[in-house]
Amino acid sequence: MAEVTMYFPKDFKWGCATSPYQTEGANTHSDWWAWEQGEGHIADGQKSGKACDWWGDGFPTDLEWMTRLNNNAHRLGVEWSRIEPKEGTFDDAAIDRYRFMLKSLRDRGIEPMVTLHHFSNPIWIAERGGWETADVLPLFDRFVTKVIESLHDLCNTWITINEPTVYGILGYLQAASSDDTRHQTTFPPGKNDLDLMMTVVENMCLGHAGAYHTLHRLQPEAHVGIAHNMQILDPVNPRSPLDRWVLGQQDRFVNWGVIEAVLFGRIPRRIGWRSVRALRGSVDFIGLNYYTRELVAFDRQSPQTLFGRRLQAPDGEISDGKYGEVYPRGLYRLLRRLKRYGKPIYITENGVPDHDDDRRPTFLINHFKQLWHAINENIPVMGYYHWTLTDNFEWAEGWNLRFGLVELDPATQSRTLRKSGELYAEVCRQNLLNTDMVRRYTPELMDTVFKG
Ligand code: FCB
Repeated sequence: MAEVTMYFPKDFKWGCATSPYQTEGANTHSDWWAWEQGEGHIADGQKSGKACDWWGDGFPTDLEWMTRLNNNAHRLGVEWSRIEPKEGTFDDAAIDRYRFMLKSLRDRGIEPMVTLHHFSNPIWIAERGGWETADVLPLFDRFVTKVIESLHDLCNTWITINEPTVYGILGYLQAASSDDTRHQTTFPPGKNDLDLMMTVVENMCLGHAGAYHTLHRLQPEAHVGIAHNMQILDPVNPRSPLDRWVLGQQDRFVNWGVIEAVLFGRIPRRIGWRSVRALRGSVDFIGLNYYTRELVAFDRQSPQTLFGRRLQAPDGEISDGKYGEVYPRGLYRLLRRLKRYGKPIYITENGVPDHDDDRRPTFLINHFKQLWHAINENIPVMGYYHWTLTDNFEWAEGWNLRFGLVELDPATQSRTLRKSGELYAEVCRQNLLNTDMVRRYTPELMDTVFKG
């Protein structure tokens, strides 16, 4: 067979993505910490504990791993509840710690991308109703201002908010649960109210737009985006008009609503769209978090989920814990649809729960092939951040879902590189994917990966 090489663009960013709550440990002022203490909230009653101990020795250790993986970029976050543990009181030691982290990354030639909000809130914000009312907006803006004033010299690429729709659905739409989909988990505050969910997502979009303008006021050269989770949704029965109709509704809410909001200032409601002018034109780039595909069927019993029922493809490859279908082509399909917006795109998350690492090498190669296809069609993808570097605390799933290129034993904090991590290190070092890598890491793909 001919030797094939798929080159990625010069200056392409290769890294991993992490979030503060999932890696730092002992985030005792966060609403997630309080939530963890509640009965039945986390799988098997597990706790985040020290997480990956990034507030201690874990960060320098993982920095070594980033270097060993030849990463030239890393996505991490700052934790609001650490920086402002009490309303209006900022913790300078926490800011110093983040300065140390960002500086350490830069010293290694690893460019940081910093997320300002990744699911968790200070307890005092949750007690005021979190994102349910617009009262949160000036408070978030004050926090953002403090962060930018303190860190702007060390970071140029910012994510305002991570996954408003996932935050809304998992915290406010538990009726979305079904036996065979990913959304079995509950996020705080564990409510079930479709209209409130829409309000929360809208407030998060407003928080995003506020942060965008604050960032540009304080750091005009900043490059600012939002990290948005998109799922491929396909109809259970493509010939059923009702399945197709309900698919359109779900697609609008889950996938396109946030994009249309931050670009054009229109946000989906139960019927039609509502214009929210303040949102218009509030991104420099789109951050795409892509994991899975689900099928959608019309279900007249489910007004709470806009009459949609989610199923997994019967012949699909399903990852650990029934997390979802592994569907690499979906990355290309989404990128093609995002192209029309004319914005630079980063893959801000993509990964698979795979404790035994028997799926992740093929997952990586198949997704990189799709990414390469998209880039070759002039879709401006600037970088790829794998979720994640080291196994971390996977929210309501606790330690059961292992997404790391590096395996972690949370009790001893010992780390072991997975085979997929070795593969990723080679791709990042050479900035390409070739036949030799496929032959060595995933020989079973030799017949398929370079075809078509
Ligand atoms: C994304 C979240 C991230 C992690 C991965 C697996 O939706 O942003 O924190 O939970 O899923």
